[in-house]
This record gives sequence, structure tokens and C-alpha cells, in this order.
Amino acid sequence: MRRLLLATLLTATPLMAHDGVKDPQVMARMDGMAAIGAATKTLGDMAKGETTLHQAKARMARDTIVLQAGKIPALFEAEAADPKSEAMPNIWTDWADFTAKGEALKAAAQGLDFTDQAALAASMRALGGSCAACHKVYRK
Ligand code: HEC
Repeated sequence: MRRLLLATLLTATPLMAHDGVKDPQVMARMDGMAAIGAATKTLGDMAKGETTLHQAKARMARDTIVLQAGKIPALFEAEAADPKSEAMPNIWTDWADFTAKGEALKAAAQGLDFTDQAALAASMRALGGSCAACHKVYRK
């Protein structure tokens, strides 16, 4: 059962999310962002009460964001291009600011509070703000 689920995730997710992306570096950074997006959705659903706040699942989602945020400099370092990419060219001219925004994402994820739904919702606002701060400037 578990193996089946894993196989489904491995085959289905990248294809559905990034159909037609040819550059492997672009694909890798999109995969990292997609993992951050999925983990954020898991936490957001719990914050909104659409799913039950589950401590272990919330921590796993948090850890995914912290891990992937830490990989942002390595994943974006090469100025890789692909017609499907939504990355803006100023990432590489304003590199210090871009990576600082990656650090801010990591800090916001580390600051998530799972005590209860209200605490999660409040700490999710800082997390969401860190996504928006970067996307506004560096994502098409
Ligand atoms: C340091 C900057 C930065 C931060 C912080 C950031 N992102 Fe991104 N994100 C990007 C860039 C740049 C892209 C476009 C990458 C590309 O298309 O090459 C992107 C793309 C994405 C995508 C599309 C991935 C795909 O499948 O193509 C999702 C989903 C996403 N981000 C979610 C998030 C969420 C959720 C957060 C906050 C929890 C977040 N991002 C924080 C820079 C950032």
C-alpha cells in the first residue's frame, strides 16, 4: 500500500506539475518549490480547520519547507532557463536579496507554532508573507 502510494507520487507529481520543462536545473528548482507549495497547503488546510491539526504531519510539512528553503541558493545558483520557467532574471542580478528572502522563508517556517489552530493560523501569516515577498519580485 505504502509502496503503491510512493510509486504514484513519484510518477504522477512531476509530470503533472511541470509538463514540458526540458532544463533539468529548472525542473529541480520547480520541484523544490512544488514541495514547498504542497507542504504549505497541508499546513494551510489545518490552519483553516479544513483538516484536523495533526502534530506529526504539521512538523513534517514544516521540516519540508525548512529543508527546501535551505536548498534555494544551490537550486537557483545556475542561471538556467526554460520557456516554462517563471523565474525572473533579476534573481541573478539581485542575488543577495533573493537568497535573503529564501532565508526569511526558512525563518518563518521555523517559527510555525502548532500549539493549536489559532496559533498555526497566526504563524502561517508570516510564512505566507515570506512567499509573497519573493514571488512579487522574482516570479513572473
Ligand atoms: C526566495 C524566493 C522565493 C520564496 C521565499 C518562495 N518562492 Fe516559490 N518560487 C520562486 C521562484 C523564483 C519560482 C519560479 C521558479 C521557476 O519557474 O523557475 C517559484 C515558484 C513556485 C511555485 C511553482 C512551482 C512549479 O511547479 O513550477 C510554487 C507552487 C511556489 N513557488 C510556492 C511557494 C510557497 C508556498 C512559498 C512560501 C511558503 C514560496 N514559494 C516561497 C521563488 C520563491
